[in-house]
Amino acid sequence: MSRRVYVFDTTLRDGEQSPGASLNPREKLEIARQLDRLGVDIIEAGFPVSSPAEIDSIQAICREVRRPTICGLARVVEKDIDAAAKALEGAQRSRIHVFIGTSPVHRESKLKKSEAEVVAMAVHGVEYAKARCHEVEFSAEDATRTPREFLKEVFTAAIAAGATTINVPDTVGYTCPTEYYDLIAWLIANVPGMANVHVSVHCHDDLGMAVANSLAAVSAGATQVECTVNGIGERAGNASLEEIVMAMRTRSDLFPTETGVAPGEIMRASRMVSQFTGIVVQPNKAVVGSNAFAHESGIHQDGVLKERTTYEIMDPEAVGAGGTKIVLGPRSGRHALRHRLGELGYQVSDADMGPIYERFLAIADAKKQVFDEDLVAIMEEHDVSSAPGFEVVGLQTISGSRAIPTATVEVRTPGGDTVRESAAGSGPVEAVYAAIDRATGLSCRLLEYRLRAVRENRDAVGEARVKVEHQGRTAVGLGASTDVVEASARAYVSAVNRIRQVEANGKDRPAAEGVS
Ligand code: KIV
Ligand code: ZN
Repeated sequence: MSRRVYVFDTTLRDGEQSPGASLNPREKLEIARQLDRLGVDIIEAGFPVSSPAEIDSIQAICREVRRPTICGLARVVEKDIDAAAKALEGAQRSRIHVFIGTSPVHRESKLKKSEAEVVAMAVHGVEYAKARCHEVEFSAEDATRTPREFLKEVFTAAIAAGATTINVPDTVGYTCPTEYYDLIAWLIANVPGMANVHVSVHCHDDLGMAVANSLAAVSAGATQVECTVNGIGERAGNASLEEIVMAMRTRSDLFPTETGVAPGEIMRASRMVSQFTGIVVQPNKAVVGSNAFAHESGIHQDGVLKERTTYEIMDPEAVGAGGTKIVLGPRSGRHALRHRLGELGYQVSDADMGPIYERFLAIADAKKQVFDEDLVAIMEEHDVSSAPGFEVVGLQTISGSRAIPTATVEVRTPGGDTVRESAAGSGPVEAVYAAIDRATGLSCRLLEYRLRAVRENRDAVGEARVKVEHQGRTAVGLGASTDVVEASARAYVSAVNRIRQVEANGKDRPAAEGVS
């Protein structure tokens, strides 16, 4: 039977302590609403004593968000607890989270208190809070650097004073999974009353082990995990909510537990938190990074297209991340290219696939990632250039404010010869067209010339579209390349080929498509 683990989200408190992340009251309320939809059990909405505005914003959350318990943080001092009680007054279910440092370094250097004084303060804090809200959580700050016997003494006293949740924070991200497992198991076995309260864990990520430590603690019997969306938080951040939840779901064989979280809301929560805090999610972040379900290598792409689970342990749809992403680039194979073209509506024959794939690779090499718009440009170019004709196989231009624009082109003729010609012009494109005219022996007149980027990026493919005229016939041509002069040459040659094709078919025959 699976055990319920409660999710305590502290995005609005510890998460907001991320350097640079400050949220306004409207954003906090929006995030709280999303956390409610996400299904977290407890929302730590802030640190009320920090400012009157903080109290107002927690009050707004209490009014609007009714299902989860709303929690406010307080030191074990009356001033803090009074502020928290005021902020939480209107909550459907309220929790005051009181804390005090227990490790020698916190006690001696920061608080300048003896062990006995810390215990007395903890007890007073819990008792004072208990009379002012529904639930009291007690945290021994820096618990993982606190001697076990003292931790046992403080927790025993806090439980006797009425704490309903005991939190064991790894405040500085110092512990390791085996050690933390051992500590949690030891506390559950040795602290009187610990079996009757919620045992909570709160891990920071200074050594990159916050999630692993939280999961180890769950295995040891912890019933509450404290975490933040996207793992944001003080310094290196807190344990990431989405990673903990998805690890427990994906490896339910190792973690026979369940949470109230609706995974389908994870991505929406992640995007909202990122947008409001301005903290960008790293692309390779587990579960919510933009690359979390993206496949780049040809072998992986081939695998996931045959069977998604070859390289995916979670269904991206299940976390609201859309589908599997095949990133088309220099390492993509024909299978992936054909698949994406099919999704875009192009059915490509085996014969056509060769030149299309070659063209794709040339563009992929130049710009690393090939987008749908690039593929459409490649296909349009292929459509107008698939008939045998002239082909530009080499191109060099010289231009600049002091140079005479000159172009040299190498053109393969329909007969298979390669012809090299040079010409000058008023600009590099005009010079290229003049050189092509010499190489093909067809002197066409340029009627229209249009150039556009198929995406906004600086490395986008440029698409050239031209209309040319030769002996009363006009034809259009398209060309695409990351080099706009090369795109222009391709467009011109494809229009020339159309004209040639129609002229070869005889003037009496009806005009071919694209030629009038
Ligand atoms: O990291 C920590 O110890 C905290 C406490 C206030 C729980 O955030
Ligand atoms: Zn913390």
